[in-house]
Amino acid sequence: KAARTPFIAGNWKMNLDHLQAIAFVQKLAWTLQDKNHDFSDVEVAVFPPFTDLRSVQTLIAGDKLELKFGAQDLSQHDSGAYTGEISGAFLAALDASYVIIGHSERRQYHGETDEVVATKVAAAHRHGIVPVICVGETAEDLEEHGPSAVPVAQLRTALEGVVAGKEIVVAYEPVWAIGSGQAATSAQAQQVCEALRAVLTEVLGDEVAAGTRILYGGSVKASNIAGFLKEPDIDGALVGGASLQIEEFASIARFKS
Ligand code: G3P
Repeated sequence: KAARTPFIAGNWKMNLDHLQAIAFVQKLAWTLQDKNHDFSDVEVAVFPPFTDLRSVQTLIAGDKLELKFGAQDLSQHDSGAYTGEISGAFLAALDASYVIIGHSERRQYHGETDEVVATKVAAAHRHGIVPVICVGETAEDLEEHGPSAVPVAQLRTALEGVVAGKEIVVAYEPVWAIGSGQAATSAQAQQVCEALRAVLTEVLGDEVAAGTRILYGGSVKASNIAGFLKEPDIDGALVGGASLQIEEFASIARFKS
């Protein structure tokens, strides 16, 4: 675990326009600086809406901020007649480091299947962007199949899109914990993350599995982050609601102190 740099990622979802994003990222950077945040110790990234990305990139590059950023989705295609889509090439041109793929809200409201997720993972890798592959079970899945079956199956298919040698991040987000205020316990999350790492070992090999970060997401806040990070297979968090509160998100990023 020591070899894996903890990763705190803020998924803004459909919040903050580009002007609000600039003010927010500036304040977040100051707050982290005030807290003497060491970015080599804990990596921090924001995932704003598409229309904010150019502004956020300009700010981060101009002020040489150590914050990373990524997008919340991308197209499985690289260019062409796909009205409304955003390609990995565009994200790469903006120096986006990451892209969230297969978030449960994309699966639920936009019909994304495990197969689509796999093609999007391949698209991210074609453009040198690290996919943050989201998996997680609903309350019904949990009742019907137990804790790990659905996330494990989702990950297995998603990994079909991985280009050998390219980095991925996995995010385990139980759907029942998202936005509910009711996070999984760290033991529950560890149990699933351990199963996910076993899939990584089986499909990608020991070395890749040992080097891949697995995040927990679902009602993460400053008061519960430390418990998750203590678990051997949890390497960070994908934070929704709390990533929109600067002090709270900065405290999550400072989970050690
Ligand atoms: O992607 C992060 C997310 O789905 C978790 O949301 O609001 O429960 O932290 P939240």
